[in-house]
Amino acid sequence: MANLKILLMHPEGLLGKRIQKFLEEEGHTVKWVGDETGCRQCLDQEIFDGLILEVKPEGCRTTDLVRHAKKVHSFGIVICLVHPEQVSLALEAMEQGADGYIKTPFEDKELQIALDRLQEYRSLVGANFYLRRTQDLIYRFDDIIGDSQALKKVLSVVKKVAYSNASILIAGETGTGKELIAGAVHYNSARREKPFIKVNCAALQDTLLESELFGHEKGAFTGADKQRIGRFEQANFGTIFLDEIADMSPSTQAKVLRVLQEQEFERVGGTKTIKVDVRVISASNKDLKEEIAAKRFRDDLYYRLNVVNLWIPPLRERREDILPLAEYFLHRFSGEMSKKIVGFTPEAEAVLRDYEWPGNIRELRNSLERSVLLSEKEWIRPEDLSLHGLDEAGDSNDAKAIRMPEGGIPLVEMEKRLILEALERANWVQKEAAEFLGVSRRVMHYKIQKFGIRNPNWVKNK
Ligand SMILES: Nc1ncnc2c1ncn2[C@@H]1O[C@H](COP(=O)(O)OP(=O)(O)OP(=O)(O)O)[C@@H](O)[C@H]1O
Ligand SMILES: [Mg+2]
Repeated sequence: MANLKILLMHPEGLLGKRIQKFLEEEGHTVKWVGDETGCRQCLDQEIFDGLILEVKPEGCRTTDLVRHAKKVHSFGIVICLVHPEQVSLALEAMEQGADGYIKTPFEDKELQIALDRLQEYRSLVGANFYLRRTQDLIYRFDDIIGDSQALKKVLSVVKKVAYSNASILIAGETGTGKELIAGAVHYNSARREKPFIKVNCAALQDTLLESELFGHEKGAFTGADKQRIGRFEQANFGTIFLDEIADMSPSTQAKVLRVLQEQEFERVGGTKTIKVDVRVISASNKDLKEEIAAKRFRDDLYYRLNVVNLWIPPLRERREDILPLAEYFLHRFSGEMSKKIVGFTPEAEAVLRDYEWPGNIRELRNSLERSVLLSEKEWIRPEDLSLHGLDEAGDSNDAKAIRMPEGGIPLVEMEKRLILEALERANWVQKEAAEFLGVSRRVMHYKIQKFGIRNPNWVKNK
């Protein structure tokens, strides 16, 4: 049987000492607290596999305590110790979720047997739960569109591993759906009711990233005017998604490695060790093997993150997915924008199918959002898709990139397209987009209102 980390709530005395000694000799780790207040504090701060507590009439709050313990650690084992004349108290505790009771006085062996049985029972319940969940999953991946074998293969691995606690490393080019898959893993795991926290490691500099991940104490560095709880603490009992991990500094890499190995860390500028139970999913669009070879990424961290590896192929390698995805986005955006668009012309379908999609699904999605917004017709035509490189007849010279479509185009529509393109290039920062087009921010703002343009990131994934 596995070694357990057990919280023992028992008043100081010989019996408590005996239980502690016995459990430790059996290879378990024991934390001993004398009363309910101490017990509650421990339950809120650390993760235990089991709680052994004495139930007494005067300690009638023990039933609350059992309920609390089961709420915070639903898979932990709770065993009550009870005087034979007060068994009804233990039964009450069992109604609140306790797993069993032992009458005092008892032999050490009785405690051992109870623990073994409960562990066996737990793993059976866990396995059963797991099996049932993997069956249900099939119906819960509706948001992930695509019929290709390549995508099906990825999803079948996701279904298998979602329920474990294994770390997952997702690789794939930009826009292939790494974040979407990370979300699918979390929402199909036992942790789905708990937080799913995302951190983009490329977005923040060294110390800022460390403070983002691990939090900081007041005064830890200039500007740290109050204590801050980091993302790992926020993600406790849930999942953290570390995006673009290749961009972590060596010192952050060392700290993340420690969380993976020991489930603990200190806040920046702090001394208190904080324990967490967090599943880590990470992603990178750089080749981590190359980063390791160049000594920019720790190989020990790589192996910890890469317990399960998921590679999402680029869209051009699974062209069967293009049209189903295009249809999906077309209906979604025309619904959201209340536009009556029926579908694609055969020429537009061919363009979609043959295009290289360097920006993968994100590019497809953006292209369709733009087409739906701009299209005045029922059918989307190739020119509505305004894909890079297609209107340019093989000429990549920027000055010639703006081309009038064959049948002409109203000037106002051209203006709308340019504004959208500027916004996309500026990552939707209006000030920067205005600079691209040499207009003031006010003019940009006015045009955005006039054309009813919205940032696609405001549209939540449904
Ligand atoms: N199979 C799919 N079905 C539906 N939508 C998808 C699919 N794959 C990706 N998307 C959508 O495409 C967009 C890009 O996906 P996502 O953000 O997950 O990509 P990414 O790999 O994390 O990109 P990056 O490397 O740039 O961060 C999102 O809007 C996502 O919802
Ligand atoms: Mg991403």
